[in-house]
Amino acid sequence: MSQGIENLFVENRTFPPSEEFVAQANADKSVYDDATDWKAFWHKQALNRITWFKEPTEVLDDSNPPFFKWFADGELNVAYNCIDRHLETQADKVAYHWVGEPGDELTFTYQDVYDRVTKLANGLKSLGVKRGDRVAIYLGMTPEIAISMLACARIGAIHSVVFGGFSADALADRIEDAGITVIITADGAWRRGSVVPLKAAADVAAARCPTVEHIVVVKRTEKAVEMTDVRDVWYHDLVAEQSTDCEPEVMNAEDMLYILYTSGTTAKPKGVVHTQGGYLTQVATTHSYVFDIKPDDVYWCAADCGWVTGHSYIVYGPMANGATQIMYEGAPNFPDNDRLWEIIEKYKATIFYTAPTAIRAFMKWGDDYPAKHDLSSLRLLGSVGEPINPEAWMWYHKHIGGETSPIVDTWWQTETGAIMITPLPGAVDTKPGSATLPFPGISADVIDADGKTVPLGGGGFLALDRPWPSMLRTLYGDPDRYVATYWSQHDGLYFAGDGVKRDDEGYFWLLGRVDDVMNISGHRISTTEVESALVEDARVAEAAVVGRSDPISGEAIAAFVTLKSGVEGNEDMIGELRTVVADKIGPIAKPKSIVFTDDLPKTRSGKIMRRLLKDISEQRQLGDVTTLANADIVQEIADKASTPSD
Ligand code: PRX
Repeated sequence: MSQGIENLFVENRTFPPSEEFVAQANADKSVYDDATDWKAFWHKQALNRITWFKEPTEVLDDSNPPFFKWFADGELNVAYNCIDRHLETQADKVAYHWVGEPGDELTFTYQDVYDRVTKLANGLKSLGVKRGDRVAIYLGMTPEIAISMLACARIGAIHSVVFGGFSADALADRIEDAGITVIITADGAWRRGSVVPLKAAADVAAARCPTVEHIVVVKRTEKAVEMTDVRDVWYHDLVAEQSTDCEPEVMNAEDMLYILYTSGTTAKPKGVVHTQGGYLTQVATTHSYVFDIKPDDVYWCAADCGWVTGHSYIVYGPMANGATQIMYEGAPNFPDNDRLWEIIEKYKATIFYTAPTAIRAFMKWGDDYPAKHDLSSLRLLGSVGEPINPEAWMWYHKHIGGETSPIVDTWWQTETGAIMITPLPGAVDTKPGSATLPFPGISADVIDADGKTVPLGGGGFLALDRPWPSMLRTLYGDPDRYVATYWSQHDGLYFAGDGVKRDDEGYFWLLGRVDDVMNISGHRISTTEVESALVEDARVAEAAVVGRSDPISGEAIAAFVTLKSGVEGNEDMIGELRTVVADKIGPIAKPKSIVFTDDLPKTRSGKIMRRLLKDISEQRQLGDVTTLANADIVQEIADKASTPSD
């Protein structure tokens, strides 16, 4: 089959949830039946989970596809839903246990969040920020990042959070595209013991962008920064005299809530637009059903608010549900490799959500670090951001989940706004490496290059064949690109850009980005499957494979392998690893070359940059690598790869 993707990797382990878990779960199997009438299902969620100023009577407006509207006659305020409505019953409940990287800690109740959000909202108004204005938030993971997002939502301003690890140039590109008038930043952010100079970068960006009128600066690190008169104001000065009275703006369900930039195939980032009512409905619903959230849970999503995961599952979903959360400022290996486990033990976290790249790093660091801590408070684990290799899943299950916590492997995107394919932890048996089934009310398909459904057991491209409430509405200022990128491959289908296979039970197995699929002698082979086979070897911590051009097979597989701490790679091991892959998925998938490396090039959100590895393998000139999280490793790999092992 040349038009789909081969299905080669077989994984047969199945993990049903325990009876105790099933008995207490927020969602049982009946939720799927409930959602057969999907519009009615979403309408019900919208009415039950959200406090509307005006309840919506309309559900989906699909009169002008792909510009869909949800709950279009509804009116609400997202910040009101995340804060005010909880005050009557749980003003003193902890909203965030915040842990600073240097060791300082702060606890915020819902009342504290209310006080801070309203003061900042009034502060922003005093700087002239109005409904519809765009505000950039360029901060580390301090409480102010969530407070700022909610303050914008309260007054109807549109926020665009820019990840604190991005450069001044990346910030300026986003400011320019969104027409930002105010930047909220800090004197710096702590990262592995040093200070990231955020304000200095904001100054450079503002110098390039005449729309910027003010820069609000959080004092976090005591690092000296330049303050420009009139334009710049300290956050603490701005909020000091403000009142806590601030009427929430009445917003239409389809007004913009935020813009979040994500990279595309061209250099220009895409400004993904999310709106209010549908978004809040789906993040609140998924947060409750997928994470099984209960009033006394201590929930920790260890993401950064610079990414969509932080938007949906640190701020809007959990706050709408009145959850108690942990927020951590710094790196997982500062001061040592057990920082996260120490925090889980201290705050008795019950739910933990992280990314495969982090899980593979934990595996590499060794089992001793989690073993030093009591992690028995955990009852549910989650994964997001990349396909999780079965061995990483098993490690997570055993060493973090104590072999009892269900794992929810959640597939979604910046564009989808909320979780789309995932187990319901009390209703679905999990399989390591599979995101399992579409969430109730969501419909997904596996299609071939002609847009036809691939039968169960086969692989192809992931498509979403009906609209969903938290979907992106457009790309900011570029509706044509919105249509071209997502909706023009096949009529009426949203093209996710991911490879996927579906097993005989209809479970979805994500295979990575379509751009990463290799073509070996006419067989389309997923990088994820070969990588998962390599990671099955007990000595391997992480692997990335790419197809490099080959005169005989079209493409040949080049593997880059990181070994666990203390293991040295050698020629014998190269042969052994090839055999592992041949045994697991077939000789066609045997890597032609294997290079051992201490690290793999990754984006700042932790995704492996296979494109760069491909350039290295094909000895192409490398482009700008400064946006990588670990640029140094690139030259090192290039040196090693110039003497391939074949
Ligand atoms: O390739 C898929 C991968 O991450 C992409 C979306 O990235 P981003 O917009 O940065 O959002 C990440 C957080 C939602 C997807 O197209 N991806 C995300 N979750 C999974 C995944 N791949 C496999 N399994 C997942 N659970």
